Amino acid sequence: FDAVDVIRTKRDGGRLSDAAIDWVIDAYTRGTVADEQMSALAMAILLNGMDRAEIARWTAAMVASGERLDFSDLRRDGRPLPTVDKHSTGGVGDKITLPLGPLVAAFGVAVPQLSGRGLGHTGGTLDKLEAIPGWRAGMSNDALRAQLRDVGAVVAAAGSGLAPADAKLYALRDVTGTVEAIPLIASSIMSKKIAEGTGALVLDVKVGSGAFMKTVDDARELARTMVDLGADAGTRTVALLTDMDTPLGLTAGNALEVAEAVEVLAGGGPSDVVELTLALAREMLDAAGLPDADPAAALADGRAMDVWRRMIAGQGGDPDAPLPVAAETDTVLAPATGVLTGLDALAVGVAAWRLGAGRARKEDPVQAGAGVTLHAKPGDRVTAGQPLLTLHTDTPDAFGRAREALADAVAIEAGDGPTSGDREPGLDRSIV
Ligand code: URA
Repeated sequence: FDAVDVIRTKRDGGRLSDAAIDWVIDAYTRGTVADEQMSALAMAILLNGMDRAEIARWTAAMVASGERLDFSDLRRDGRPLPTVDKHSTGGVGDKITLPLGPLVAAFGVAVPQLSGRGLGHTGGTLDKLEAIPGWRAGMSNDALRAQLRDVGAVVAAAGSGLAPADAKLYALRDVTGTVEAIPLIASSIMSKKIAEGTGALVLDVKVGSGAFMKTVDDARELARTMVDLGADAGTRTVALLTDMDTPLGLTAGNALEVAEAVEVLAGGGPSDVVELTLALAREMLDAAGLPDADPAAALADGRAMDVWRRMIAGQGGDPDAPLPVAAETDTVLAPATGVLTGLDALAVGVAAWRLGAGRARKEDPVQAGAGVTLHAKPGDRVTAGQPLLTLHTDTPDAFGRAREALADAVAIEAGDGPTSGDREPGLDRSIV
């Protein structure tokens, strides 16, 4: 094969043969197809798409570029241990993995969460957990298996051995305007989850201003594509579409989100976070063959909290240590009286990022205490001058740029409107 011929085929709207896909992924991983050639091909795919068979082959080739974990032989008390993972396509304030893994593990299911760090305005689960003093994301495969067997829940950094073709390609797409292509997003996410070796997978596909997918139609297409890829690879996969027009819960930022997740594990926490955690837990338990399990009971009676404490301690963290707090805060006041009708997820995510909760480049550090706290959610009544948002940072120079990001984030309508008491649940859920 010749890289230029492969690029021309896709540029001109043709389909790539299995052999061409296998060759180009392998050659790119080994460095014989150059970055500029792969970025041209990624752009041709973004513009002309791939059919289902092409996407499945592309995904399989990325899985085959590295190692594939296998948990099918895990046993507890002599019985096979089902494995189920969850993946969110990324949102603002999306700390659901933190309570969800321990919650599902409380029912004797193993949840092998191999995660990444955040880039841009969506936070990364590892960054959040690293706010806990002592907690480490790095784990050997043996340690991972042992924790899955003994505790049931683990959140660890995906090793560089899993889908290395995707690691290289995702970094390239990030700087060449080629992230936003459904075939490339679907194959990127699913190659990592298939290589991770989970038996079943529940996808939380986000829709709205703070998500990759801005429309329900696009989100549904992404969800269907990923569900099909899971089926092709023998990983039972279901997807929920959920709202990301406004942040989840009342916090965006690393330590702030850990604190909120712990509230949920203690049986409290904001209702939207609790509802989504339970909805995803039910899907995961169903996929593990436990359709009658009652996850709400395990939040209420402390079983999920017990697993959380063991999960954190198992990775060097101190679940009782105070969480880091940012050095400085600044308060954004409600500009009018009325009903809060919008609090834009993307704007809050960008503000949290600028305050130091996220990173612009892969190598950048993040601040554990930085982020945004919400004092009201859409549907709530607010009064002019009341605190609406608190901004947290160690670098107060950032307040100005964070406020700029929030300039058009808030919508308040005069009049009575609904109060939070009669608000519809914020979830727009549908199963794919
Ligand atoms: N997340 C991924 O892992 N890959 C993408 O392409 C987009 C989001």
